Amino acid sequence: MIEIHDLCVQFGGVKPIDGLSVTLNRPIVGLIGPNGAGKTTLLNVLSGFVTPKRGWVKLNGEVITGVPAHQRADLGLRRTFQTDQIAEDLTLLENVQAIADHAIFDSRDAMKKAVMGAIDFVGLSPRLNRKGSDLSTEERHLAEIAKALIGNPKLVMLDEPGAGMSETESEHLQKVIKGIPGYAKAQVFLIDHDVDLISACCHETMVLDFGKLLALGPTLEVLKNPEVQQAYLGNFDDLEVAA
Ligand SMILES: Nc1ncnc2c1ncn2[C@@H]1O[C@H](COP(=O)(O)OP(=O)(O)O)[C@@H](O)[C@H]1O
Ligand SMILES: [Mg+2]
Repeated sequence: MIEIHDLCVQFGGVKPIDGLSVTLNRPIVGLIGPNGAGKTTLLNVLSGFVTPKRGWVKLNGEVITGVPAHQRADLGLRRTFQTDQIAEDLTLLENVQAIADHAIFDSRDAMKKAVMGAIDFVGLSPRLNRKGSDLSTEERHLAEIAKALIGNPKLVMLDEPGAGMSETESEHLQKVIKGIPGYAKAQVFLIDHDVDLISACCHETMVLDFGKLLALGPTLEVLKNPEVQQAYLGNFDDLEVAA
């Protein structure tokens, strides 16, 4: 569960988050809003890259504001970035392994199992020994998700994982994201512009509109909210709800 209380972030004259208070407790939570709405900034606050001017954030009842970014992995916080962080000259296996080297495991076997398990979970086992530079955009996004699943995650934050994907690729991504709470016992926080992906995956969705909360609730209700449609979306009467 993520609890955010009176959160304010300021960069000079810009306030990308302005007095945000919300509690997010469903297994897969969506975050949508126009470009510049403060979505990535919120992820940066959660992962410790940005220090808020005011307010606090709790993960599963524990205050995380003030905990340095490098210690947040130990609290189970994981994220992917809009620009992926795959090392070009390492293989897929080595890329995921590099994350496991910083996590705590009972044995080497347990570590290997976690690495192979995460790669298999995202469907990339056939690409194990491919160099990062030889992976497609889709494969790189999936590899980033595999990395985020290593070492007991509690919250997996995905920043536009569907960007640049075809419809078929996005369908696979959908299955992967939906499987995360069951596979990793972690909550998922998903930012994406693809409303089909959001509505298929997210039990609840929040809409940010230039630093303020515009809406929060069951995804379909939120997407049909006239204010949300006016601010951000078109008409989405034919969407299907997340299972
Ligand atoms: N490090 C930063 N320094 C100054 N301004 C920033 C910084 N990061 C984000 N911003 C500004 O904050 C606003 C929100 O950005 P962002 O969170 O990236 O939006 P989104 O991810 O919703 O598109 C934008 O106006 C952006 O230019
Ligand atoms: Mg962004």
